[in-house]
Amino acid sequence: MPAVIAGTGVAAPPNVVTNDDLTRIMDTTDEWIRSRTGVASRRFVDPGTATSDLAAEAARAALADAGVSGDEVDMLVCATMTPDRHNPGIAGSVQHKAGLGDAATFDLRQQCAGFLFGLDLADMLISTGRAGTVVVVGAEVHAGYLPWGDAWQIVLGSTDRAPTAGERALATHHRSWSVLFGDGAGAAVLREQAAATPRSLASPEGILNSVLRTDGAHADLIEVPGLGSQQRPYADAAQITAGLHHPAMNGASLYRLAVETMPAAVCEALEAAGCELDELDLVVAHQANDRILDGARRRLGVDASVMPSNIEHWGNTTAATLPILYHELRQQGRVAAGSLVAFTSFGAGAHWGAVLYREPGGTEAA
Ligand code: ACO
Repeated sequence: MPAVIAGTGVAAPPNVVTNDDLTRIMDTTDEWIRSRTGVASRRFVDPGTATSDLAAEAARAALADAGVSGDEVDMLVCATMTPDRHNPGIAGSVQHKAGLGDAATFDLRQQCAGFLFGLDLADMLISTGRAGTVVVVGAEVHAGYLPWGDAWQIVLGSTDRAPTAGERALATHHRSWSVLFGDGAGAAVLREQAAATPRSLASPEGILNSVLRTDGAHADLIEVPGLGSQQRPYADAAQITAGLHHPAMNGASLYRLAVETMPAAVCEALEAAGCELDELDLVVAHQANDRILDGARRRLGVDASVMPSNIEHWGNTTAATLPILYHELRQQGRVAAGSLVAFTSFGAGAHWGAVLYREPGGTEAA
């Protein structure tokens, strides 16, 4: 039987940083950021909060929403591009912090597409009988790699100190990508459909179909070029001085690929499931920026009521965008029983795809 989403949860960091707050440390404007990206504010964790802390909080919230206890979880899938440390991954820490007993764990490294790939993995585990209950988490703490160093207190308004010329120049140098990102986490609990709602249905429920794609030739479109095995030594001061620990992004090429690939994957998933585009009730798409969403909406011929956005108040939370948006839509009562939902994302690597999902509780067959 396919997997259904039995509960969702979110972890929202406490520090809200507006575009105007960013003008304290870089040359930018609220108007530039809003009109190019749709972002008005983003959230950041306090120092000392790691990605696994946010992920565990979201996992606990999703379990509470599903009415499932931690020791019922068979497997945990964690997607992030900002792990607590380079090695090991975060999934073991999340299992421990969320109280998931000895559940087996996976770390996924598909960046913005990580949660999407995690949904498909959970469905494979559940539909083949390897697991009964799987938690999938997308979580990011981008704060640590933003190039603000000691100027963080200026961003957060907790000091009257003005940035030095060097701090301002560095932050301005990295402004095209740094204004996009925020911290956050979202999680979903997936279970076998039959266990939750046994019934004879007019349409199948749960995860209907997945289309996942990777093209490694695009790995350099957005990457952190330093601190890895392609360098010797793996990490040194020269790489930090050269800024190789910060992301480097080809924004225009990313825009084009994301706008092409997400709608194509949604159409492919619909076709494989024998569904038409006009049957779609919701497209829960990666929140990279509003321009990409507008382009994808135009390609699919849907409006913002079908492909909504929450980037205004979160920024791009990478692996966390899909579960945060889906959780908020559920909270707002915008996810009706029986609706057809397409999750879609595009992430660094490049990885992209779509997962087609029928909300449980649809009409019973006559
Ligand atoms: N504030 C003010 N000016 C800025 C800022 C800023 N924050 N950032 C860049 N600029 C300036 C540049 O310095 C440049 O100035 P110049 O013409 O004097 O040299 C000018 O604006 C244009 O810079 P571009 O980088 O060409 O800006 P562009 O208009 O392409 O917009 C953006 C940048 C918004 C990132 C765009 O390329 C885009 O939408 N790309 C998609 C990529 C993306 O969203 N990535 C997200 C992460 S990847 C993912 O999630 C899959």
